[in-house]
Amino acid sequence: MLVHLRLFRYNPEAGRNKPSYDTYNVEADPTDRVLDLMEHVKAYNDPTLSFRRSCAHGVCGSDAMRINGRNLLACKALVQDVGTEITVEPILGMKVIKDFIVDMEPFFESYRSLSPFLINDDIPEDGKERRQSIEQRERFDDTTKCILCAACTTSCPSFWSDEAYVGPATIVNAHRFIFDSRDNGAEGRLERLSEEMGVWRCRTAFNCTEACPREIHVTQAIAEVKKAITSGRLD
Ligand code: SF4
Ligand code: FES
Repeated sequence: MLVHLRLFRYNPEAGRNKPSYDTYNVEADPTDRVLDLMEHVKAYNDPTLSFRRSCAHGVCGSDAMRINGRNLLACKALVQDVGTEITVEPILGMKVIKDFIVDMEPFFESYRSLSPFLINDDIPEDGKERRQSIEQRERFDDTTKCILCAACTTSCPSFWSDEAYVGPATIVNAHRFIFDSRDNGAEGRLERLSEEMGVWRCRTAFNCTEACPREIHVTQAIAEVKKAITSGRLD
């Protein structure tokens, strides 16, 4: 089948200092991914086309893009699912550096601000390991699946309106440690998330849950953090 591909372009260093689109007709199979089509264009039409990708299998989170208006991983978006008229644009709300490459630093700065690591200086009783029941591990299982692709944060109207909002991805990763029975840092994280640009900026639009390629219940995780703040409990 013939796919009509419309790609966003922006490259101030090469004089393309206004966003525009290039179009290509690419022969494809229904099971080809949008990433395959972009690789084809880069290899055969325009080697300057720039985008991030690494694993090509939905694991590294580097190729989140707006495909026909929806945030998707280009390596998981099949032609048979998105159709033969495909427009690809960079994720929204981040500064575009070149073509599909956006400045992810503010996103990772927000992520780091919630200490996304285990905080616990206590020595375990046996001096070896911190034990956890199956139920305790299940409590935060969903949010361990995050690959930091930013599809959730960049589909969020609250983030679009104010990029100082920590955003759903940061809350998901805070949730992963707040509800971990081995961690002692919940208080500080909840304090930070109860600030003006924390969880209360969330207006429960559900865009984040819809956008998440890992099918994480993002809105639910945010609701659980809100509940922990108001109740002072982590159950
Ligand atoms: S929660 Fe989902 S959409 Fe958000 S960064 Fe993690 S994997 Fe991506
Ligand atoms: S290239 Fe790694 S998730 Fe798509």
